[in-house]
Amino acid sequence: MARITAGVGSSHVPLLGVAVDQGKEDDAYFAPIFAGYQWTRAWERAEKPDVVILVYNDHASAFDANIIPTFAIGCGEIYKPADEGWGPRPVPVVEGHPDLGWHIAQSLILDDFDMTIINEMDVDHGLTVPLSMMFGAPARWPARIIPLAVNVVTYPVPSGNRCWLLGEAIARAVASFPEDLNVQIWGTGGMSHQLQGPRAGLINAAWDNKFMDSLIGGSDAARHIAHIEYLRETGSEGIEMVMWLIMRGALGRETKLLHRHYHVPCSNTAIGHLVLAPVA
Ligand SMILES: [Fe+2]
Repeated sequence: MARITAGVGSSHVPLLGVAVDQGKEDDAYFAPIFAGYQWTRAWERAEKPDVVILVYNDHASAFDANIIPTFAIGCGEIYKPADEGWGPRPVPVVEGHPDLGWHIAQSLILDDFDMTIINEMDVDHGLTVPLSMMFGAPARWPARIIPLAVNVVTYPVPSGNRCWLLGEAIARAVASFPEDLNVQIWGTGGMSHQLQGPRAGLINAAWDNKFMDSLIGGSDAARHIAHIEYLRETGSEGIEMVMWLIMRGALGRETKLLHRHYHVPCSNTAIGHLVLAPVA
């Protein structure tokens, strides 16, 4: 049977895609950011996941104000890197896993989650930057990817508890897929950050680290953090962290920490990164 073997949390800061694409990973500014991903790149080479369920948000590349799916799952064969204004990133096309994607979609919908099914879309930095951080710059991405897009841009955005429950439902879906697949789930999204208004540039390192602490071990307190707390403590864009809770929910009752990294500054935010394993 397919099984979820690990969860990865990571910021998906667009500037880091530029750093990879322009060969700047060793520059003084970027080196301490990328240093925290070397462990993970080596671990991924050893783990060889067959499929990654990649939880991210689109930034007005595939969806805009015309259509705002709360939860969307990619069931397509391929996804091209999106043009976000400077041409598409020079990274490989993302290959999907339609059989598992459709299986998860069916299982989630029968489990009372009304997913939007996406067969064709381009994927932006929210999805391609985590691939670069975890896999480097290969000629072909080493895993099949199932994009799982969450609306964290336009209110109302889903609650942390709803995200956690979706993670649990994804774990049930994967566990009922008959093929023997090593599946990881990645929850991506920025740490504390605010892009506009009087609090632009806000970074709350203490809160970010408390949030990451709460995903390790057996606590489920993070699922009950209210939107207003994200807004107050982490700025208007910190709400992206609810996407990490889909990853955490999918790992079951208890997790153990395999790797952790946090660094400020990274663009106008922090970089946060966790690698977790489920405790059976
Ligand atoms: Fe984002």
